[in-house]
Amino acid sequence: MTDYAGLVSAAGAMQRRQMYADPAVYEQELERIFGRCWLFLVHESQIPQPGDFFRTFMGEDDVLVVRQKDRSIKAFLNTCTHRGNRLCRADRGNAKAFACNYHGWAFGTDGALVNVPLEKDAYFSEIDKSRFGLVEVDQVASYKGLVFGCFDRNAPSLADYLGDMKWYLDVWLDAQPGGSALIGETQKVELMTNWKLPVENVCGDGYHLGWAHAGAMKAVQSMDFSGFTVGNASVELEGGLSIAGLNGHSVLATVDGVSGYSFYPDNAGILRYLEQNRPTAIERLGRLRGEKLWGSQLNLTVFPNLQFLPGLNWLRVYHPKGPGRIEQWTWAMVENAMPADIKQRILDNQLLTFGPAGLFDNDDGDNLAACTEQSRGWRTRQLDVHTNMAQGRSGARPGLPGDIAVGVVSEHNQRYFYRRWQEHMAAADWRAVPQYNLNSLQDAKDLAHVG
Ligand code: FES
Ligand code: FE
Repeated sequence: MTDYAGLVSAAGAMQRRQMYADPAVYEQELERIFGRCWLFLVHESQIPQPGDFFRTFMGEDDVLVVRQKDRSIKAFLNTCTHRGNRLCRADRGNAKAFACNYHGWAFGTDGALVNVPLEKDAYFSEIDKSRFGLVEVDQVASYKGLVFGCFDRNAPSLADYLGDMKWYLDVWLDAQPGGSALIGETQKVELMTNWKLPVENVCGDGYHLGWAHAGAMKAVQSMDFSGFTVGNASVELEGGLSIAGLNGHSVLATVDGVSGYSFYPDNAGILRYLEQNRPTAIERLGRLRGEKLWGSQLNLTVFPNLQFLPGLNWLRVYHPKGPGRIEQWTWAMVENAMPADIKQRILDNQLLTFGPAGLFDNDDGDNLAACTEQSRGWRTRQLDVHTNMAQGRSGARPGLPGDIAVGVVSEHNQRYFYRRWQEHMAAADWRAVPQYNLNSLQDAKDLAHVG
């Protein structure tokens, strides 16, 4: 098998453009990244009742996630075991069983083959139905409402996979009693981009905000960017941090500097909610997270393709559809403790900014598609692109897991994203994938060379 790890330089600061366009690289990503990592499937709030199902993708594999009678969650390949037809065609719903459109085989919500038409007359009762149940995703596990699946039985547990990232995820998932939920329908957008580009754009590219989004920022009048002037990308975003070194996961944090809620045309109710509930957040998360992070805008990335942004309140997964195409699925996310009018306000604002016709999303989509297109030519695919901004300027910070660079205008997080990509692409299986134990600051220092 070709070793594509060399498409990224040692410190993750340089990428050969071939990695955004080459079908052979993409095939290996399906195996070594999407076939190996824990992938987001659904939020538990989207399938609350037994029989509730949700269709999604793991890499390019169509997957059906089903709430079981005992309230556990199973996931199956959404393909009939007879002749391979797509079993369930609805995006979501509630079912007692799933019957195939082609010859009528029917499967229970637990995946068992329960009915075969003409079983007696055509199969002479000789078919062993227990052999033809739906194929289950090898591992399914939840973390505080987020449900993940993994095709690799040898992968670390979900808890270990998330590692220290859990400390940051909890700022959204555990700040208030009752947890979180995704609301509204799935907002699906097809983009002609390689899947890595939107991930690294959101995980660490604060650089483009003041330039690519200058028009959108002007359009959303009430935004307060505290020193981040439009068209003049100031490096000093008050209090911002780029946090990586978390096994490919990362955080872009405004840390009490710029609240994502300042994007909202009318945010008085949301700010009141934050004020009223901050004591609870501090009680549950401690002073640092409850006071500084909860309510600030965070860009949270779970490697390889899940991102959510408390403050702007959306959660998104990027489904690859070939080297140059993705489906981007987005939902608005809320805390269950929020009053109904605030939830509605959040959904409205998410649609305005990062929905299918969102002001900000359209800026990004065009740039990312062009970066992909410009990596396709025979000559251009041999060129490199760079994420070398502020290299060597990161380190440990007391009380915060990860290797941390000051400011959100940095390419620190992208370097770690590409390093993780490289580590997976070089490894034949999970045994060869380095697992950094970042439960101590000493380990974070050990990784400082990457920055
Ligand atoms: Fe599904 Fe034949 S392909 S029943
Ligand atoms: Fe953007």
